Amino acid sequence: MASTLSSSFISPALIILLVYLSSSSNNLAAKHTYSASHHHRHHNRPPFQNPKLQQAYNALQAWKRVIYSDPYNFTSNWVGHEVCNYTGVFCAPPPNDKKIRVVAGIDLNGADIAGFLPDELGLLSDLALIHLNSNRFCGILPQTLANLSQLFELDLSNNRFVGPFPYVVLSLPSLQYLDIRYNEFEGPLPPQLFSKNLDAIFVNNNRFSNVIPSNFVGSSASVVVFANNKLGGCLPPSISNFANTLEELLLINTSLSGCLPPEVGYLYKLKVLDVSNNNLVGPIPYSLAGLAHLEQLNLAHNMMTGIIPMGVCILPNLANFTFSYNFFCEEEGICQNLTSNGIAFDDRRNCLPEKPNQRSQKECRGVLEHPVDCFHYHCGGVRGSSAAVPPAMIPAGTPLSSPAMAPGYV
Ligand SMILES: *[C@@H]1O[C@H](CO)[C@@H](O)[C@H](O)[C@H]1NC(C)=O
Ligand SMILES: *[C@@H]1O[C@H](CO)[C@@H](O)[C@H](O)[C@H]1NC(C)=O
Ligand SMILES: *[C@@H]1O[C@H](CO)[C@@H](O)[C@H](O)[C@H]1NC(C)=O
Ligand SMILES: *[C@@H]1O[C@H](CO)[C@@H](O)[C@H](O)[C@H]1NC(C)=O
Ligand SMILES: *[C@@H]1O[C@H](CO)[C@@H](O)[C@H](O)[C@H]1NC(C)=O
Ligand SMILES: *[C@@H]1O[C@H](CO)[C@@H](O)[C@H](O)[C@H]1NC(C)=O
Repeated sequence: MASTLSSSFISPALIILLVYLSSSSNNLAAKHTYSASHHHRHHNRPPFQNPKLQQAYNALQAWKRVIYSDPYNFTSNWVGHEVCNYTGVFCAPPPNDKKIRVVAGIDLNGADIAGFLPDELGLLSDLALIHLNSNRFCGILPQTLANLSQLFELDLSNNRFVGPFPYVVLSLPSLQYLDIRYNEFEGPLPPQLFSKNLDAIFVNNNRFSNVIPSNFVGSSASVVVFANNKLGGCLPPSISNFANTLEELLLINTSLSGCLPPEVGYLYKLKVLDVSNNNLVGPIPYSLAGLAHLEQLNLAHNMMTGIIPMGVCILPNLANFTFSYNFFCEEEGICQNLTSNGIAFDDRRNCLPEKPNQRSQKECRGVLEHPVDCFHYHCGGVRGSSAAVPPAMIPAGTPLSSPAMAPGYV
């Protein structure tokens, strides 16, 4: 209505009245939504296409207030009501109403933003994906995230989040893809994480401790990456409950001890198995010969003994078999010439009599004279797997053996 009046005829008193009316009507509208704070008083029609966009505006402004560094100016255009035009904010119609648009995605990957996640993010209840990879977000995740009932993908990787495992993610009913790697989360991983309907679980490169939960029930995950955490304990036999879906299991550098359970061989869909840089002892289970889809097998940097079984060397899809830095002492049949099978391999620093670059006889003897009884090996818990390693098992001069000597957890 203001635009129909010629500005030259508007008296100062009328301007004040117009400003008052428009601001009070904004405030009235706002009472029915979330916040009463408005800075745009010159609009004469509701500035938001729908109340959800107004909620999103409130959430994003609250977020901007707790961002204290934004070197690439991702959020500089987070002003005004057109939230769908903000950098990194994506709108789409919600599943139940094709006529409106709501904020459905946030993608601030690589923005190097420093700040927090405010409680108001719970207002973005239509979000399907959040990508915050490679920023400097810190603190903990707000409990209000539980409101994001549509959230499908949550990628918080490579940030500075701290505290215990963010339990709030377990209450997200639609979540499929959880990536919290490269943060500073600590403490135990909750068993519920693995019984949730997740497709991908990335928790690597945090400070998670305590053993891998031993009571895996059914899981739907196709990729699980635990790597570079101080988990300790043994890989539980219940890992076989991942069999129907698991394709990649990465347990690199997780302070694992004990023997590989034969149940690993039940994970028949597995394409990648990497348990390198741990304190595993004992033999390669023969059951691994059942992993018909296996392409990458990495056992390097453990204290495994026994033979390299032929069944593994003839796996039809195996392309790379790395077992260097162990104490294997024999290769069955074709395993002696993996090249002839087209398999890339690394067999260095074992106790293979015919091969170059092996450990010294003395080093080998020390370990091979004390065979491991996997059946009597105690895993995890307060008893600590390390307590069960006979001292003679620890090869001198193997740097990786020292973490094993520290108690798993107190
Ligand atoms: C971000 O904005 C500030 C102030 O407008 C400017 O000085 C700086 O060069 C901008 N940075 C980038 C990466 O565009
Ligand atoms: C927002 O983006 C749309 C589509 O690109 C454009 O038509 C509109 O003018 C933009 N609005 C503002 C306020 O920038
Ligand atoms: C949860 O979402 C609803 C619907 O968008 C909203 O009204 C409510 O305020 C939100 N709750 C929190 C805690 O953010
Ligand atoms: C192994 O994991 C620990 C954390 O548990 C980490 O500090 C260390 O750098 C990792 N080692 C390698 C070689 O990545
Ligand atoms: C085989 O796997 C190891 C360990 O992941 C890796 O370092 C190596 O580069 C791979 N070799 C080939 C030829 O892909
Ligand atoms: C391994 O097999 C390849 C091809 O079959 C052959 O050329 C090579 O001489 C064999 N190497 C050894 C050490 O037997």
